Amino acid sequence: MSPFSRYRLAGIDLRNRVIKAATFEGMSPDGNVSAALIEHHRQIAQGGAAMTTVAYCAVSPDGRTFRDQLHMRPELVPGLRQLTDAVHAEGAAASLQLGHCGGFCDNNDLRRRRPMGPSRAFNKLGALSGRPLIDAMSRDEIEEVTAQFVAAARLSREAGFDAVELHLGHGYLLSQFLSPATNRRTDEFGGTSRARFPLGVAERVRAALPPEMAVLAKINLRDGFRGGLEIDDSIELARGLEARGLDALVLSGGFVSKDAFYLFRGQRPLGAMIEVEKRWHKKLALALFGPLVIREHRFEPMYFLPLARKVRSAVRMPLVLLGGITALGHLEAALTEGFELSAMARALIHDPALIAKFASGAVQKSACVPCNLCVAEIDRHGVRCVRAC
Ligand SMILES: Cc1cc2nc3c(=O)[nH]c(=O)nc-3n(C[C@H](O)[C@H](O)[C@H](O)COP(=O)(O)O)c2cc1C
Repeated sequence: MSPFSRYRLAGIDLRNRVIKAATFEGMSPDGNVSAALIEHHRQIAQGGAAMTTVAYCAVSPDGRTFRDQLHMRPELVPGLRQLTDAVHAEGAAASLQLGHCGGFCDNNDLRRRRPMGPSRAFNKLGALSGRPLIDAMSRDEIEEVTAQFVAAARLSREAGFDAVELHLGHGYLLSQFLSPATNRRTDEFGGTSRARFPLGVAERVRAALPPEMAVLAKINLRDGFRGGLEIDDSIELARGLEARGLDALVLSGGFVSKDAFYLFRGQRPLGAMIEVEKRWHKKLALALFGPLVIREHRFEPMYFLPLARKVRSAVRMPLVLLGGITALGHLEAALTEGFELSAMARALIHDPALIAKFASGAVQKSACVPCNLCVAEIDRHGVRCVRAC
């Protein structure tokens, strides 16, 4: 089978097997859609990917990690509609990643007094900005956030998206509930029922949307640190999501607040991160403690494949392989291994036209390093590759 064969995901006729993974764009000042954000996704669509994912749209204002992030509300719909129209005009589909940051919060426009998560805890990210504590969520708050996911999914449909991707990974709220390290609850949302809230969100969002609109979930294969979610938990979660009718799972890993570069691998762009940080106290903290607390992880092609295979053998639903996919041969290998789709992030930041170049035979592999300077660029000019071709 070829990576350029079409694929039907729910009601979407994908033109090939490649999805552009969500990469926070840093192009949503005050939580609004900018012309740059539209152009960014139009270029990816023009460059040949079958579907592009608009990164991190919070389901409520307090679901933002940072102030300048999209948060779903009726006023956002016209801007998002312009974006989906531009993507569709280039022949690609559009997906919107929906999330809530929970206790991973550095939002200076927070409506609540404190960020909230599964259990009372310390908020390392917000500590220097006066938000050092995380409150444990009440049952009513869990229900409220579930309803916010449903409302945001419905508005995504109005905005013309073909799919939504629920963010259940990387240490955001639903991932905080899934992780034994951050969920220490003793009620019906803790212990062996840590997945109850995320599964409830998945079930309610799937039921709220028409069957032709795809609902994906991005999940962790591992949190990436001792005491976190492990592959057996991930397999159980995948089975639960399959039973709730989700259309595909994007297989990732990592917990940003604990070990930011487990999910990326490659070089730590510490110097650039210090340079772009505007707040002096954060700059200082990064310079002093960055080298100690930000670990480097060796990059290998298709680095999540060994763990992803275990999920592949446990469920029948469509799976999206992610992580270190940079060559045409990787896309072919993913199909051979039984993954219906692949997702690519950095290689398409480096060259949005890479898929078209693979298809024409002009290029066989990406020249992405991975230096991860694109991560630091988010706060400078919006996400981009400093070595772009
Ligand atoms: C600059 C940048 C921003 C990212 N932002 C997000 C995000 O908002 N949401 C998300 O789920 N993953 C995010 N990621 C992770 C990617 O989606 C992907 O999981 C990771 O980069 C591994 O894929 P790759 O090897 O193809 O780059 C980001 C990655 C990069 C490089």
